[in-house]
Amino acid sequence: MAKLTVNNLDVRGKRVFVRVDYNVPLEETNGQTVITDATRIRETIPTLDLLISKGAKIILASHLGRPKGQREPSMSLRPVAAKLPDLLCRPVAFVDDCIGEKVQKTVGAMKPGDVLLLENLRFYKEEEANDPGFAEKLAEAADVYVNDAFGAAHRAHASTEGVPRLMTRRGAPCAAGLLMERELKFLGEELEKPARPFVVILGGAKVSDKIKVIDRLLEKADAILIGGAMAYTFRLAQGFKVGKSLAEADKGEVAKAAVEKAQARAVHFLIPVDDVIATPVDTGKLNKKGKPIIEMQNPRLHSQSNIPDEACGLDIGPQTMEKYSDVIGRAKTILGNGPMGMFEDARFAEGTNAVAKAVVEATQKGGAKSIIGGGDSVKALHNAGLGDKVTFVSTGGGASLEFLEGAVLPGVAALTEQ
Ligand code: 3PG
Ligand code: MG
Repeated sequence: MAKLTVNNLDVRGKRVFVRVDYNVPLEETNGQTVITDATRIRETIPTLDLLISKGAKIILASHLGRPKGQREPSMSLRPVAAKLPDLLCRPVAFVDDCIGEKVQKTVGAMKPGDVLLLENLRFYKEEEANDPGFAEKLAEAADVYVNDAFGAAHRAHASTEGVPRLMTRRGAPCAAGLLMERELKFLGEELEKPARPFVVILGGAKVSDKIKVIDRLLEKADAILIGGAMAYTFRLAQGFKVGKSLAEADKGEVAKAAVEKAQARAVHFLIPVDDVIATPVDTGKLNKKGKPIIEMQNPRLHSQSNIPDEACGLDIGPQTMEKYSDVIGRAKTILGNGPMGMFEDARFAEGTNAVAKAVVEATQKGGAKSIIGGGDSVKALHNAGLGDKVTFVSTGGGASLEFLEGAVLPGVAALTEQ
């Protein structure tokens, strides 16, 4: 159902509470905190520019990380407040809290077009608990609510669900931001009646993470291409040996059922036919998190479906790349979620890069619409320098997956109907 959007709002002189997802990756270098990927911030700029041009007073609220109700300095939004003025080309005020007197005072002094960023919502445990009293306090500073945090829309938290429900009861408009609107358009409407062939590329570690999406997309897609460690669960279910590959032995029935559904619906369901394998060797050392460091030694091509006992599969092989690229090349709609292998290690990134290249070519030369959803596939696309060469890249990880599963996202459901 169509939701009210910022385009429809009259916000001159009004205090607009804008929930954004500024949960961005941070890195500590020489005592300085740096944002390593500002995509999620950049993608909200059109909404903010529009609100500024309409004369709104903008109050930005976000979570960052999972501080579990503690004031965790490493999860402060201060680095975001420092970055935002560069992207917005105007000053941004920051308050080191998200509720209370300091916030009220700062908001009280705001003029139309002013922008304020509040401190991490999750410094209060009431945020994730969707506490009504906390929602009340957040809503105190606002006349209008806008949600541009697609990445957090699958969470029924105070700022994503409690506040808009409360403001709706007060008769205040609760609208989708432009980013939210685009996400819903590409991951929703565009895939309702996709131009055919519709090719879905699914990768990642676990079948259990993706099975609902697979099940739903089997009803829409012409072809599904499987990659990543989850391919080994399918191989195992077909009776092949997977050696030490990451596979879910208890998901055999689920994998078989998906393959049977594909056959019944005449969907091409492809799993890799060759691999890049390596021999995992325990170094006896531990990483920062106290986990054993396993080195992948002797990476090599392997073109039989049975993987040797001492080895594990870490990427798709050249025959699979060729086959997948061919199918992708004929697509008119492409949905990609999850990498084809352990792409963080350059030795196992070739499959992911080849598939990304095929998607870009189908988009640029073949006129296909390509939609990429999910944290890791987006990272892989950026790694390959192809982030801006597809039709749409989602800012949501868990949210895009849940949305593709057909779930109602609480943060979307709480917005005003148009
Ligand atoms: C994300 O990065 O997936 C979103 O910001 C949501 O974060 P969460 O998984 O900690 O709720
Ligand atoms: Mg998440």
